[in-house]
Amino acid sequence: MKKLAVLVILLLGVALAQQNVTVTWMTGNVGRNVDFARSMAQRYMDLNPHTIGGQQFNVTVNVIPGPESATDRLALYLQFFQVRSTEVDIFEIDVIWPGDLAEHLVDLYQFEGFREAAPAFFQSIIQNNTVDGRLVGIPYFTDAGILYYRTDLLEKYGFDGPPATWTELTEMARVIQEGERAAGNRDFWGFVWQGNAYEGLTCNVLEWFYSHNAGQFVEPAGIITVNNPNAIAALEMAAGWVGTISPTGVTGFQEEDARAIWQAGNAAFMRNWPYAFSLGQAEGSVIRGLFNVAPLPSGDVEGGRPAATLGGWQLGVGAYSLNPAVAADVALFITNYEGQLRRALELSQFPTIAAVYEDPALLESEVAWLAELLPVFLNSVARPSTISAPQYGEVSRLVFSATHDVLTGREDAETALAILELDLEAILGLPTGQP
Ligand code: GLC
Repeated sequence: MKKLAVLVILLLGVALAQQNVTVTWMTGNVGRNVDFARSMAQRYMDLNPHTIGGQQFNVTVNVIPGPESATDRLALYLQFFQVRSTEVDIFEIDVIWPGDLAEHLVDLYQFEGFREAAPAFFQSIIQNNTVDGRLVGIPYFTDAGILYYRTDLLEKYGFDGPPATWTELTEMARVIQEGERAAGNRDFWGFVWQGNAYEGLTCNVLEWFYSHNAGQFVEPAGIITVNNPNAIAALEMAAGWVGTISPTGVTGFQEEDARAIWQAGNAAFMRNWPYAFSLGQAEGSVIRGLFNVAPLPSGDVEGGRPAATLGGWQLGVGAYSLNPAVAADVALFITNYEGQLRRALELSQFPTIAAVYEDPALLESEVAWLAELLPVFLNSVARPSTISAPQYGEVSRLVFSATHDVLTGREDAETALAILELDLEAILGLPTGQP
């Protein structure tokens, strides 16, 4: 009897010492991101109770999907931060935002486990996420723009492999589109990409420019180079696709709009991020087994080279979170080796922990190409977020608005880039020059 009483008191004590805490994670919302986040949250909860900072916690991880567009997501985060909202604890942070958002994110290094974990991640991303010595985001997955192409159709029209240059892509897309339409598919298009006025267009434009040896809008050394002859040529090339090899509606497309046409089997080529691979290969997909991925083409100019925009997401903890230590512990768990391997296998996204690329489970899987295309990520070109922080959001808005006007025929490329140069000069106060 006495023993039982002691046991009850002991159990009660443990239960009381265990604090119940709910943390809210606003997740990405493209492809299968939300489902994956829910399953990772469940894994963390299955391991309850967690000992964090010497205390026991019984944690509920509440997953809420954020806006699909990175541009809308940034606007929403800024609203949360402005009113010091405690609603969201864990934020998914785009690779371009650490500089703009640092003041609203906690330094993860103050919590246990982060100093030990950091060396395993790609140091370039850790550096990107470190602002004034503070780690404001733990790398979750990384991204790079890639070319998807239909292997069956390339073969059918007698092409040996994916296009090496944009000129080749344009020509191949035209031939395949004409052929497929003549064969009865009126909905078929040569090339789909992201032309809506949002962050995704900035990514596409950077690839067109950099592959044409036309710089990266603002160089890391602090020179605005957006107005140059190769950039004008690259933009004119893209404007020429609209309504020819790409639907007119492409100027309203985000990632999932492009993927919808591609995955219905109605496009020869697509520019997108790696996530579209797993979805295209899923059970029941009409293009399953009929496509492959490759680096994006080079510009047909002196110094032309393939270029992929660096993308990717980090998990950051909001400065106004009521439970930052618990939120940080969840973020560390979600981004750990096992989580990254699972993400690569299930969602075909580039891990941010280098060793995962050597894991036999990855190398023997359908996504072994992630390891093959690792150089595409390693050589990817960054948007000018560090040099323009905390104004990158505004820089990108100017870039995608100006280029969108050219794609929709409202402005010619030469004028649009001349005005863009002036606008960038006005907000950044940096000198202009040639790339
Ligand atoms: C992807 C990239 C991200 C980029 C966004 C643009 O999510 O990972 O970096 O800003 O696409 O749409």
